[in-house]
Amino acid sequence: MTDFRNRYGAWALITGASSGLGAEFARQLAAQKLDLILVARRADRLKELATALKLEHGIQVKVVPLDLAKPNFIATLKKHTAKLNIGLVVNNAGFGMSGEFTENNLDYELRMLDVNCRAPLIIAHEYGKIMASHRRGGIIMVSSVVSFQAVPYMTHYAATKVYDLLLGEGLWYEMKKYGVDVVTLCPGATETEFSNVAETKPVPGAMPAPPVVAAALDALGHKPYVTAGFKNKFMVFMTRLAPRSMSTRIAAQIMKKLGRS
Ligand SMILES: NC(=O)c1ccc[n+]([C@@H]2O[C@H](COP(=O)([O-])OP(=O)(O)OC[C@H]3O[C@@H](n4cnc5c(N)ncnc54)[C@H](OP(=O)(O)O)[C@@H]3O)[C@@H](O)[C@H]2O)c1
Repeated sequence: MTDFRNRYGAWALITGASSGLGAEFARQLAAQKLDLILVARRADRLKELATALKLEHGIQVKVVPLDLAKPNFIATLKKHTAKLNIGLVVNNAGFGMSGEFTENNLDYELRMLDVNCRAPLIIAHEYGKIMASHRRGGIIMVSSVVSFQAVPYMTHYAATKVYDLLLGEGLWYEMKKYGVDVVTLCPGATETEFSNVAETKPVPGAMPAPPVVAAALDALGHKPYVTAGFKNKFMVFMTRLAPRSMSTRIAAQIMKKLGRS
């Protein structure tokens, strides 16, 4: 694995670090001796993780309790990071919602758009600009395997994840000339709090978070996007071969079993 502190600098910013994949990114980057800025709404969770990581790894950890759906969240983030050299950004915070599109609450869907798309766009722009001027840095986008086909009954969530994948893939190419590595992680079902929040049944055979995060860190600087686990890689491969309407129909059948509809 890359020596992250030498390659990217001292500080990594991780959004959605209060649980699941974000908390695991924090643990694995702490083990790499990076100093961390942990962002999410649940301050108690962030503080607990920060205390544990400082104790175990002797690193600095700053906690920024923040709602990324707030229009001017970036002002708060900039205030907390003004004096820090952020070399690595993990745009991980996100959530899903299952159900019939027209029956779902539109305000909730709009918040999802803000957290899953608007926030990573603004964060990538703000810190990407600084990284480009320093001629080094890394950005990890977190998309999903659902970004390779439409997913009826989780329609808008899948659309937000396509946005993350294409934003990340485009930046992978554009930022190369500045020495900035970009990778997009496309996890399949992973054991986190995601399905509770999205109100879906847990997916049988979901992967634990550590190998999913390790795949992203291994791929940074080497690949434009990465999917962890053989089953997920195979599924993505087959999806790309199949007619799009067929993939959509299959996804709908799966969601009828897993979701509220
Ligand atoms: N688990 C899966 O099966 C799976 C599969 C594919 C992709 N993903 C993606 O992986 C990423 C991480 O999700 P996860 O699986 O780790 O789920 P999770 O355990 O529910 O974690 C989601 C994180 O996002 C944060 N978050 C949500 N809304 C936020 C807001 N308004 N402002 C700030 N932070 C917010 C949550 O923190 P607070 O609630 O404390 O704010 C939490 O830390 C997401 O982008 C998700 O789309 C997950």
